[in-house]
Amino acid sequence: MNSNDFHVDVTDEQVAFFQDNGYLSIPRITTDDEVEWLKGIYDKLFNERTGEEQGRYFDLAGPRAHTDRETLPQVLGPEAQFPELRETTYFKNAQRLAAKLLGEKQEKVGGGGHMILKPAHYGNETPWHQDEAYWNPAVLPHSLSVWLPLDKATLESGCLQFIPKSHKGDVRWHRHINNDPLVHGLITDDVDPSEAVACPIPAGGATFHHCRTLHYSAPNSTPQERRAYILVFSGPHQKLETPAHRPWITEEQEALAKLKSLAADRE
Ligand code: NI
Repeated sequence: MNSNDFHVDVTDEQVAFFQDNGYLSIPRITTDDEVEWLKGIYDKLFNERTGEEQGRYFDLAGPRAHTDRETLPQVLGPEAQFPELRETTYFKNAQRLAAKLLGEKQEKVGGGGHMILKPAHYGNETPWHQDEAYWNPAVLPHSLSVWLPLDKATLESGCLQFIPKSHKGDVRWHRHINNDPLVHGLITDDVDPSEAVACPIPAGGATFHHCRTLHYSAPNSTPQERRAYILVFSGPHQKLETPAHRPWITEEQEALAKLKSLAADRE
């Protein structure tokens, strides 16, 4: 990849918009050529269920280890398998823009990725949530996500939708999808979807959202899969003296431990 060829920037107005609203949409962050190249890696990772044994491939919307059709498969940390993903135009532009939007020096901002696939016709919704709800309750992160679709992202295929300014409040109460702690995906009921702003973008475009911004994407009702490659970038975080109360994290850890010990008993 010729990563230095395509340099994307944001204006001061766009930085101010992000800081005020908690999200930003841009029509392009990488080249069509790179999107095509990324699709090859992406499809290989999902077809081979890369990292499943290590818990890096699973269905975000279904209980761990289920054997039905996966409606929202996810790959964590694809850069471990393909380190060249860190050398892409996408990664470099995303890191530079993330630093700018977070108001941090670029050398202080690091990150990595995950990939979420919405299969054609039956890709599940990603319910309303804040990313920080998934994270270590003992730290206050300074983070954002960059969301790159490899296929056109429309309302019908599952583009991201945001609640403007929701990043200025607290992390809301979350629960696991279907109230099943073996489902990794979280949902909050503390949201008014009528305030949502949808951000349809072409393949190769990007949206940015702060780690507290409420976001959602609809089920994929189109005949085209919707592949998304997300990078999370963080500046230095703050340690909290009193950790936040997020019992859904402990519930999941306990449920997973139980599942593992049951599996061990069977062996
Ligand atoms: Ni999210």
